[in-house]
Amino acid sequence: MDPHASSVPVEPAHPALRGLKWWQRGIIYQIYPRSFMDANGDGVGDLRGITSRLDYLASLGIAAIWLSPIFPSPMADFGYDVADYTGVDPLFGSLADFDALLEAAHARGLHVLLDLVPNHTSDQHPWFLEARSSRDNPKRDWYVWADPKENGRRPNNWLSFFGGPAWTLDEASGQYYLHQFLPQQPELNWRNPEVRAAIADAMRFWLDRGVDGFRVDVIWLLGKDEALRDEPINPDFRPGMPPHHQLLHPYTQDLPETHRYIAEMRALLDEYSARGRERTMVGEIYLPFERLVTYYGSAEAPECHMPFNFILTQTGWDARKIRAQADRYDALVGEGWPNWVLGNHDQPRVLSRFGREQARVATTLLLTLRGTPTVYYGDEIGMADVDIPPERVQDPAGLRQPGVKAASRDPERTPMQWSDADFAGFSTREPWLPLAEDYRTVNVALQDRDPNSLLNYFRALTRLRAVTPELVAGAYHSLEAGFDDVFVYTRSLEVGTVLVALNFGGAARTLHLPGLGAAGSVLLSSVRREGEVPLEALELAPHEALVVRLR
Ligand code: GLC
Repeated sequence: MDPHASSVPVEPAHPALRGLKWWQRGIIYQIYPRSFMDANGDGVGDLRGITSRLDYLASLGIAAIWLSPIFPSPMADFGYDVADYTGVDPLFGSLADFDALLEAAHARGLHVLLDLVPNHTSDQHPWFLEARSSRDNPKRDWYVWADPKENGRRPNNWLSFFGGPAWTLDEASGQYYLHQFLPQQPELNWRNPEVRAAIADAMRFWLDRGVDGFRVDVIWLLGKDEALRDEPINPDFRPGMPPHHQLLHPYTQDLPETHRYIAEMRALLDEYSARGRERTMVGEIYLPFERLVTYYGSAEAPECHMPFNFILTQTGWDARKIRAQADRYDALVGEGWPNWVLGNHDQPRVLSRFGREQARVATTLLLTLRGTPTVYYGDEIGMADVDIPPERVQDPAGLRQPGVKAASRDPERTPMQWSDADFAGFSTREPWLPLAEDYRTVNVALQDRDPNSLLNYFRALTRLRAVTPELVAGAYHSLEAGFDDVFVYTRSLEVGTVLVALNFGGAARTLHLPGLGAAGSVLLSSVRREGEVPLEALELAPHEALVVRLR
């Protein structure tokens, strides 16, 4: 049963794009539901709020929204601690609100991805309550338990990503349980087929309701070493790094069996795709490219449609370094479909990393490299990290790791800036996290009216993608720009070639790009140039992003 099957409009694809799936042609937009739009006036965003903003979302020219977790949760990690995989937390609304959102999104041609968190549950999930109730409970083995070592010591040296050990003693049963995040996030035992079946049921629940796929949380952590061996010391650890970096992680990350688990999930999605609309799976994976690309799987056992490529969140704003990474990624992706991420709910905002002058260059990079872009809410209007006063810090990762730079993720999770009205039009009362001070000048309403705003530049770019198949499907090839702060590449198909030139610096540059023809025509420029440009002496203004059609 798929109640929405007929309501997703079939996009009129350019002939050159035939054969590409919607998630290959389109753009994914991440919504952090607590912070997008508050419809019920409690200071926290909700599903009805999102529904009320669907026209805005559709105006962006995106293909899908991905919602960070909306499931019932004690919110120890703001929803990444799930207490019921098949419900909606009352804070966000009801299942009926979700169905209404899905239907209204589909009616506008927007796909909806949910955030599946299969590595761990909340410690309040009925599965864990049962599992911890006694050593011989049938659900005991759904989680990872281990006896203390002699003297009651922890089973091994594994560490939590949020600081401290990855083991907590369950006093009642005398065993430790594993959690690579908070103690309130016990890890499921993926070796147990019942666990895999239970997660598959949760996926079916949402797929049957009509969702278009999942972003899967920490998918590369699913398998762990069965012998629970100690992890080796990281020789490159330096003070100030997150304590989790003290160790290398061969026994908690990227284990061979994880591929089998993912292939099972993918097979389930493929069953649905074969019956109707195409569903997709994006995997959260922080690994070097060589390892990352193995998560596409093989033709016989496909895995993620898109293993998230986070390199732009980890590379400084350096044109040469980014070029080198983009070249390497493009080569390594092989038959897989590439993707790019500039920011998310775990990383400092792109604007705060690279500076406001570079916002259009960054947006152009994200939307014109080869592969599906994922945009973080608010980046399209240039929201920046917000300084959170110590007494208002909410994120447990920050609270538990004082002294670690950017450990708290609150700064990038602040309320969407809709207008200059009170509370930025996000809510009718003080929101759960402070608003940015600049919301009266940086907001959707204002930028909507300003043809030269970042928001309208973003829309111009998505419109350009929609009519320029080279930017969606064209081969990527980088060129030597002759300057350390300029990145130039082409995107070509049989029908034509488009050149992208990005000035990462504040100095005007004249590029000499031989062999491309005498002149090209400007498709889009962040400094609003039009017409013909010479290619053998191509002028770039400071901080300019330029897209040119070659002839
Ligand atoms: C992922 C999420 C992050 C969360 C963690 C634990 O990394 O993106 O926000 O805290 O998993 O679920």
